[in-house]
Amino acid sequence: MTSIIQTSNLRIGLFDSGVGGLTVLKQIYAQMPQESVIYFGDTERLPYGTKTPVEILQYVREIINWMLDQGVKMIIMACNTSSALALEKVQDEYDIPILGLILPGARAAVKQGKRIGVISTQATADSNAYRKAIQEIDTNVRVWQVSCPEFVMLVEQNQIDSVHAYEIALKYLQPLIDANIDTLIYGCTHYRHLERVFKKILPSSINIVDPAEYLVIAANQELELMGLKSTQVNCSTRFCVSGSDREFAVTAQQLLSEVIQVEQVQVANSCLPGRDNL
Ligand code: DGL
Repeated sequence: MTSIIQTSNLRIGLFDSGVGGLTVLKQIYAQMPQESVIYFGDTERLPYGTKTPVEILQYVREIINWMLDQGVKMIIMACNTSSALALEKVQDEYDIPILGLILPGARAAVKQGKRIGVISTQATADSNAYRKAIQEIDTNVRVWQVSCPEFVMLVEQNQIDSVHAYEIALKYLQPLIDANIDTLIYGCTHYRHLERVFKKILPSSINIVDPAEYLVIAANQELELMGLKSTQVNCSTRFCVSGSDREFAVTAQQLLSEVIQVEQVQVANSCLPGRDNL
């Protein structure tokens, strides 16, 4: 039988379609430096924002099954699209804590404003997940959702400081500025990487909410509550991807400002779905 101490010292499993989840990883480094992480980027199947809910649910189950085989104590969806489309379903299927971005992001945003803009992938916008979560907390808050399909590839191709990035950001943000929003949620984990560009465009009066920050606060509290906080010095993050390890390493190293080792792994077609395989 596995003891609580052994379980505490397992890694946290963190996943995204690509380098977006690194913005969540950075929050873990800042807020929970004692924890060890296994990071998975599903780069072979990126972008998630154009996929159907059925496809996303299948990918998420495959990733969770693979992570459970690696040995993890908690799973963090560092991906809004997965959180919007698959979180509730897999939380019912697996006996491991699984956390997502929508609720922590919505809760933080309603504390800061009454006119909230959400920028996200098409799939997240279509799901209405942020609007529902925000209006469940406060029906008086108005929500504007804008899908920004070009941002993810800009980040993956590491064009975050280009003139092209500025022009695209202006196109997506201007309608929100015109709507006089007081708060903006980064509804996709890739977007924080574009923050320098956003700050050139957004009036400083607009509050920015990065759900990653609040997700990691929630994860820390959950580990504390379950008695699962790590009791040992952390191991370096294990980075795994489904696509090219070299391409991921080049972009991720620039975004993290550190040298990393990346493994290519196969998660697709692990047995489906969850509970029966535990
Ligand atoms: N970074 C992810 C998100 O937060 C997925 C982006 C994509 O692959 O389209 O939604």
